[in-house]
Amino acid sequence: MDSHTVLYGVIGDPIRHSRSPIMLNRAFREAGVNGAYAAFHVAPDRLGEAIAGIRALGFRGLNVTIPHKIEVMKYLDEIDEGARAIGAVNTIVNEAGRLIGHNTDGIGYVRSLKEEVEPELAGKRIVVLGCGGASRGIVWALSREKPAAIVLTNRTAERATELAASFGTEAGVTSAPWEALKELCAEADVVINTTSVGMSPNTEQTPIDPEWLRPGAVASDLIYNPLTTAFLRGAEKRGCRVHGGLGMFVYQGAYAFEYWTGRPAPVAAMRGAVLESFK
Ligand code: ATR
Repeated sequence: MDSHTVLYGVIGDPIRHSRSPIMLNRAFREAGVNGAYAAFHVAPDRLGEAIAGIRALGFRGLNVTIPHKIEVMKYLDEIDEGARAIGAVNTIVNEAGRLIGHNTDGIGYVRSLKEEVEPELAGKRIVVLGCGGASRGIVWALSREKPAAIVLTNRTAERATELAASFGTEAGVTSAPWEALKELCAEADVVINTTSVGMSPNTEQTPIDPEWLRPGAVASDLIYNPLTTAFLRGAEKRGCRVHGGLGMFVYQGAYAFEYWTGRPAPVAAMRGAVLESFK
């Protein structure tokens, strides 16, 4: 670091578990960018002050995580279309004093899915398990890929109906009962788990029986701890192509890096840094 170093960071509460500093500092080093990225513990009642601090100190960029993704929007000068549609911001770009909010979670997930397992989502039948906080951005980004159908299912049915309805009738997003999953999976090209079922320490649980999947279909899980969930292990045995949750984390950071620096993100190095940090 020297007096030209450009500053970046992530704010959240809690924040000490975050792998973003490791990943983004590796990205800066790899790309030869004179930047530094740190984690800041910001309690909800100090969010406004934290954003004022970013402005005053001239940070170029900030990531925002739980619990600030919605609340932070009122402190920004502009919110891009995707973040507005999703109703949450995870990345801020400081354009000469104007703070612009983006959401790279959904588009990061879709880029990871396309680069890692399924380059063509147009015309595909997609089934989503779970309609909690994580799934909204993903469904929004998936709907822009022109799939044949996106069917939302959730243990608590109302959440699925509400989320599907919020996209309007044009988007091709519908809901179905959780009980219909066996039949839905038999017809699906891509099945995505956005629930917390299978997350450490409950690593033997799966949201559905992987035997319901069609061999050759894609099974995707947002969970990255463990890197390969019981759902994905079962799907692999069934002859499916599998996609774990680490890619979503890496690519949401890759988009942030690209918005901030205007350069392509060194994705392989970023993934390597996160994987190393798990050892
Ligand atoms: P996140 O923000 O990570 O999505 P969340 O908003 O708490 O977290 O949502 C968790 C998701 O996992 C929800 O879809 C939840 O279903 P409900 O809406 O019915 O609670 C789902 N989920 C959690 N445990 C589950 C289980 N045992 N079986 C099925 N779905 C489960």
